[in-house]
Amino acid sequence: MFGIGEEEINAVADTIRRGVLTRFQGGTEGYLARSERAIAEKIGVRHALMVNSGTSALMCALVGLGIGKGDEVLVSAYTWISTPLAPMLLQAIPKLVEIDETLTMDPEDLERKITSRTRAIVVIHMANRPCDMDRIMAIATKHGIPVVEDACQAVGGVYRNRRLGSIGKVGCFSFNNYKNISCGEGGAVLTDDDLLFDRARLWHDAGTFVQAYDAPVKIPFFAGQDYRASEIEGALIWAQLKRLDPGLAMLRERVKLAVEVIRAEGKYKPAPHCDPASAASLAIQFDTPEEFAAIAAEKGWKNIHDTAGRHIYTNWPPLVDKRAYRDDVNPFLTDAGKDARFDAEAAPRTLDILKRTMYLDIPWDAPLAEIEKQMRTL
Ligand SMILES: Cc1ncc(COP(=O)(O)O)c(C=O)c1O
Repeated sequence: MFGIGEEEINAVADTIRRGVLTRFQGGTEGYLARSERAIAEKIGVRHALMVNSGTSALMCALVGLGIGKGDEVLVSAYTWISTPLAPMLLQAIPKLVEIDETLTMDPEDLERKITSRTRAIVVIHMANRPCDMDRIMAIATKHGIPVVEDACQAVGGVYRNRRLGSIGKVGCFSFNNYKNISCGEGGAVLTDDDLLFDRARLWHDAGTFVQAYDAPVKIPFFAGQDYRASEIEGALIWAQLKRLDPGLAMLRERVKLAVEVIRAEGKYKPAPHCDPASAASLAIQFDTPEEFAAIAAEKGWKNIHDTAGRHIYTNWPPLVDKRAYRDDVNPFLTDAGKDARFDAEAAPRTLDILKRTMYLDIPWDAPLAEIEKQMRTL
């Protein structure tokens, strides 16, 4: 998170003083509406919808695409558990695609995993690292399959001068406490597509649907959930958005310096990055897990595999155990879903890469001299 302070306190106090806590009360000039317009403008999409979490944003994106029972949805094997849970909850079948050394979806494995039942590709920009979107979009376009960008861990990030979340058909942000900007818990859906936006809006608020939007929904109501964000979250994001680009610029400057120093020292190898010019994240990579283990024993380092918990697909209990709250809504108990795999052999390359890679935490506001010293003495 790129800081929090008086601006956030003032925005939240303002909406509380006015007694405006919901989108319904705030209307088109409320903090939610204003934040959505600011997000859409910054990211370069026509529509943004704030919701109560990144998981909700993923659900809205998939409902927006019309994903449901029996559909196959391809997801990277390295992501937070919510990414595969979203299709599973819609009775679609998440299928794993390997990552490559960039720690994001391997385009070659993506192409191998596409079948006649694939209805969506969810790419994940992990830890501020953009996927190889040019290759992924070319493959998706060739097969006529829409791309969802899970940019929950990369809000504001860039791939070759385009903002993450604006390149695929729909993008998803999380504003939870670990993200670039935060309102505690929250998220957003981003798209240029009018129909997808309407479907996402209905799904997120179909119970007591409030038409407090700049543009009213044009499609008939269907049953949905309640993923509504509050004006308090809207106010926080309104203030946080002002910190996003300056924070990312500071982070990029520090990552650039760290990479330069590591390269100059020549002891360690930075993991490849799909757009080095915009890099806002740094990981070092070894050729084998054994090589990492030898260094780790000496330095006390830990690889991603051993530290990332439910970001590793073998640590996703509902998927590994193929368990839903009732068997008749469990997509893995159907003919279409019975072959989906989450065992160690399902994406072995991903596990291998995560066992030989480690993030270097680069604080966005650390003094440059401090970063330089740390990298020299790694
Ligand atoms: C890649 C990724 N996708 C989705 C999510 C879900 O976001 P939330 O925790 O806001 O539901 C997260 C959250 O950590 C995430 O890292």
